[in-house]
Amino acid sequence: MDLYHRSIEVILQNQHSSGAYIASPAFPNYHYCWLRDGSFIAHAMDRVGEYQSSEAFFRWVDRAINKYSYKVDKLEDQIKNAPFTGERSILHTRYTLDGEEESSDSTWGNFQIDGYGTWLWALAAHVQMTKNYALLSEFSTSINTTIRYLRAAWQLPNYDCWEEHPEFLHPYSLSAVYGGLNAVAALISSGHLKECTFPVEAYAREVKDFLSRAAISDQRIVKHVWPASQKQAARPVKKSGVDASLLGFAIPYAVFPLDDKVIVETMDAIEKELHRPNGGVYRYREDVYYGGGEWILLTAWLGWYYAKNNEPQRAQRLLAWIEDCADARGNLPEQVNNHLLAPSEYQSWVERWGPVATPLLWSHAMYLILSEELKQPTNSK
Ligand code: BGC
Repeated sequence: MDLYHRSIEVILQNQHSSGAYIASPAFPNYHYCWLRDGSFIAHAMDRVGEYQSSEAFFRWVDRAINKYSYKVDKLEDQIKNAPFTGERSILHTRYTLDGEEESSDSTWGNFQIDGYGTWLWALAAHVQMTKNYALLSEFSTSINTTIRYLRAAWQLPNYDCWEEHPEFLHPYSLSAVYGGLNAVAALISSGHLKECTFPVEAYAREVKDFLSRAAISDQRIVKHVWPASQKQAARPVKKSGVDASLLGFAIPYAVFPLDDKVIVETMDAIEKELHRPNGGVYRYREDVYYGGGEWILLTAWLGWYYAKNNEPQRAQRLLAWIEDCADARGNLPEQVNNHLLAPSEYQSWVERWGPVATPLLWSHAMYLILSEELKQPTNSK
């Protein structure tokens, strides 16, 4: 079976009856469903026409958000009563496959806002593709709760998409918030989402203005932003380097146009600093997780950007590299560890958590998204 069909099979076989996608079935720490991974996986299922699968995931998210929406009421109260010093009431980044919070590991960085933006973006893309606009009425409570949550939380420091650095704000996470809000705003203005009365377009614009002001240094998007303090406005962490997740600014969240100088410079930095020639893409230079290997999903993401940017040959090369990384059963790992950034760190992770997560559903999903993007007539020349 080719990797395209195998990828669909891996995802469908590992979707729980609840609709949740397990992050990786063979890696105990990933036996949960993340909103971030799951939303991209659902989008991949939409791209390949497996709409029942994606809809089941969206229904799972809708139930989880409704179940924990009381936490958003609480957070809004906490924000109103600033200054607040206790523990914030937040929505978790991942849930058990039954849609419950996982609380046994209190050290896990549960506060990560990007997945909530990504689910709104992926849901909007799903209803546009399937014309199943009725889902929007069905989900109006969870959509409104998500908007209220992002509105309350977007300027609070939280963990980044690699579950690190809770002391900062993260441009990638905010690009996902922008992308989600902007997608909902479009549904409101086209008349498809009537049950949302928040000025979502203005909310999205505020996030974008903030990013223009606080996330750019030397014409490049930085990895982290200092949150505002009583004395100072939010500002870029200048030495935070480039992170491959910043691809999200270009695709899919389209914060700035592809020919904007800031996008061109940032994508160029990702290419030069994080793409190993003829190889894959690293997360960031200081990465030590499993020795800091090349990530399949980021390699596909860079290819997705090249395909969109009318550079199909570059995208094809990345696709071919990914295909070479599949194991004999056609499984894709989270990362490939032949050219590590920090080789001495590899073994201790294997001892702690076992071999690298394989298959990782998000890797298969991004491979599918890239494959589909390359089929678009304008991108295959
Ligand atoms: C990554 C997250 C991802 C999670 C599950 C973590 O190691 O940093 O981005 O959501 O694994 O795949």
